[in-house]
Parts: sequence; structure tokens; C-alpha cells
Amino acid sequence: MRLNMIDTIHANIRWLTSGEPFSEQFHDFYFSTDGGLQETEYVFLQQNNILQRFSDQQQSVVRIGETGFGTGLNFLVTAEQFLKSAHPQCTLEYTSIEKYPLSYQQLQQVMLTFKKNWPQLTQVCDELLMVYSHAFNKKEQKLDVTLFDGRIRLILLIGDATQTLQTLLKMPYQAVDAWYLDGFSPAKNPDMWQDELFNALAKLSHKGTSISTFTSAGRVRRGLIAVGFTIIKVPGLGKKREILSGYFNTSL
Ligand SMILES: C[S@@+](CC[C@H](N)C(=O)[O-])C[C@H]1O[C@@H](n2cnc3c(N)ncnc32)[C@H](O)[C@@H]1O
Repeated sequence: MRLNMIDTIHANIRWLTSGEPFSEQFHDFYFSTDGGLQETEYVFLQQNNILQRFSDQQQSVVRIGETGFGTGLNFLVTAEQFLKSAHPQCTLEYTSIEKYPLSYQQLQQVMLTFKKNWPQLTQVCDELLMVYSHAFNKKEQKLDVTLFDGRIRLILLIGDATQTLQTLLKMPYQAVDAWYLDGFSPAKNPDMWQDELFNALAKLSHKGTSISTFTSAGRVRRGLIAVGFTIIKVPGLGKKREILSGYFNTSL
């Protein structure tokens, strides 16, 4: 029998007739219902130049950090693109933080929608499902697995984003190359957009670390600039007028 992975609060989801998840807890969507995959590609992969990083022969490991794993859509799209386009010596290390993980059954349900809508994700969806509950380390509240012959490492840390980032800072760590900030809208979930979180992101970055998010909220832009990121507003997709994109310049 497959158990739910932890004794914690799982996501509280209402399923739309389209099969897409809506968070009852935050009253917000996990991803755009108006083309989730295209939004992920545009907001996160394109703004962070992920494909260029994957093909850069000088880079043997590409490290991506994410706040808000949710359904794993950003991970799945990134992993699929990695397998398609990365140079053969390149590996991907994807670290994501999630406070309210989907249960195995919820993940199974959303994977059906992903595979139906985007058949190109089938292989990565199946791989994620296979490890999601079985490989979970309950004591450490994390999933740390290598997939696809060791080419992709997924580290999913369960906990509050700010606290978990601060804990990472106390351990030996490698700076992240690209950040995906994906924590529901700042108005609905201010916890994911605090100055302490921005500060930890900066400390886990190197000169040139890129960053992007679907929001264009002024407090997020100002908070990231205050800790040393250069941030610009770029046009969004669909209903989103603007999003934020940038890179880490220097510690202030
Ligand atoms: C917009 S969804 C993420 C979408 C996700 N990247 C995907 O591809 O499905 C935001 C996520 O942030 C998580 N979250 C909310 N508050 C959090 C917190 N304080 N710390 C960590 N994760 C949090 C939610 O449970 C949710 O899964």
C-alpha cells in the first residue's frame, strides 16, 4: 500500500472540471489555467536562460532552487527540457521547498491531467510518481533522489520556505544558479515573500545567479533589489501584464 508521505498538513485542493488543482487554503491557482506549461516555460525557463545553461559546456552542474514545489510542474518541464537539450556531461540539481505537499493520491491525479494535456511530460511524470512516496525520508522530512541514470537530482524539502532556506545556510551548500519563486500571490500568501526569505536567497546566490517570478508586486521587486538583485519588469503572458526577472549582482 502506498502511504501518504508525512504526518504533516497536505495540500487542500479543489479539482476544477478541467482536472486542474485550485488551493482552497490560499484561494489561488497552482498554475495558470490558461496554459500552465507555456507559463512555466516563459516565466521560469526563459527568464533564467535555462536552456543556455544546459548547453554551456563550462557548466557541469546546473543548480536550480524553487520556493513552492506544488504539483511539480516547474520541475517536470525543466527536467523534460534538460533531458532533451543538456550536453551529455551536464547534470541538474533541483532543490525545492514545500510546506503543504500534495499527497501521493493528489499527485497521481494531477499527473493524469499533465499527461493528457502535455504528453511530452509522460516520462518525467511517471518517474516523479515512482519516487514521490516510496523514497521519502520521513525522519528528515525530505525527498532526495537521483533520476534518469543519475543525471537529475531532485531534493524536495518539506517546511516553511524562509525557515528552510535559513537552515540551508547553516550547512555546507553550493550556491544556486537560478531561482524560481513560485509561492502563490503575495497578497494571498505574504509568508513566501518576506525580507528574511529574500535575504536567504541572496546568501545562497553567486554573482550572476538569475531569478524570476510570475508576480510584479512592488514589495517583491524592492525586497529583491534591497538584498543585491538587479530586477526588471518584463511583459507577462496572457492575463499577466508584467512579471519580474533579474540576476544577483553582489552582496550589499
Ligand atoms: C503557486 S503554488 C506552486 C506551483 C508549483 N511550482 C507547481 O509547479 O505546481 C505555491 C506553492 O507554495 C506552497 N507554500 C505556501 N506557503 C508556503 C510556505 N510558507 N513555505 C513553503 N511553501 C509554501 C503551497 O503549498 C504551494 O504548493
